[in-house]
Amino acid sequence: MSLFDDLHAITLIDERMALHTSFGVGGEVSYFITPRSWAELELAHDRSRAAGLRVRVLGRGSNILVTDEYHCCAVISTEALVGVARTGLRVDAGAGLALPRLLAAAEAWGLGGFEPLAGIPGSVGGAVAMNAGGRHGTIGERLVGAMVACPDAGVRWVEAGDLGLSYRGSSVVEGSPVVLSATFELERAAPRGLQARRRSITAEKRAAQPMGARSAGCVFKNPPGQSAGRLIDQACLKGTSVGDAAVSHKHANFIVNRGKARASDILDLIGLVRDRVLDRFGVCLELEIEIWAPEESTRSA
Ligand code: EPU
Repeated sequence: MSLFDDLHAITLIDERMALHTSFGVGGEVSYFITPRSWAELELAHDRSRAAGLRVRVLGRGSNILVTDEYHCCAVISTEALVGVARTGLRVDAGAGLALPRLLAAAEAWGLGGFEPLAGIPGSVGGAVAMNAGGRHGTIGERLVGAMVACPDAGVRWVEAGDLGLSYRGSSVVEGSPVVLSATFELERAAPRGLQARRRSITAEKRAAQPMGARSAGCVFKNPPGQSAGRLIDQACLKGTSVGDAAVSHKHANFIVNRGKARASDILDLIGLVRDRVLDRFGVCLELEIEIWAPEESTRSA
């Protein structure tokens, strides 16, 4: 029996990651598995690890840069774990649920608190792992806790306070533990007011950011007290390109794929931007996006 015979219905072999990332780039991975239940996810995870395969967990692929090479690993996609349910002021959401769907559900139930996440394209699991948000707030502010699958320790509940949430980060590191679902506490609000606030925050983002373009959102974290976008802009890098990868004219902390960019073009452009900002302002920009390279994955290179 080969590795994933009994999981064949949910396993793709030699799958191109370019099809699963918002940048639209990335080489093939050995196995791409889409569990439909926590049990299937645990099975896929355990089986991969037992075979000595590196496991990577994918949400909606909107905050990662996957390099162009072949990746000998198993990717577990949470995209089928999309349940969402409400109990009073609490909402439980599956890790793969897209944030816009989470906002729509809460809005329909007359529950407020997610509006700061308007316009963010990621999944619930990815958003928790990176404490996604913006100037109006972060997902962590509403988080009660999460169900996570820990290698060798099974599924357990972790309180929000034990997830190590920080500015665009948490202790949920790639692959282990895996967020399965998250529970949030919201407040009662009129759906119409929620809709208006969501629309206004989305419009604000649309005016300032290249929202329809192929990108992974902000590439760099803001250095303490500064704005990475402003620094890159002041270094006159807007429009600078390597191949089809370019620094957005609309917001300098975004790199966009204008068509046929390769991951290597984006990486070269990241290096160029970093060098120029360091040279000009003495500031070393730290990556916000996660890079998946065959050898190792880094959040901050
Ligand atoms: N600015 C420039 N030039 C630019 C971009 C920005 O001068 O090209 C200036 C702006 O005019 C403003 C300041 O820099 O005075 C800050 O810019 P902005 O308000 O756009 O916010 P930001 O700090 O660049 C942060 C988050 C975004 C989030 C926005 C809005 C980070 C790294 N970025 O951006 O998050 O959407 O606030 O809430 O924390 C993301 O995480 O992927 C992301 C896009």
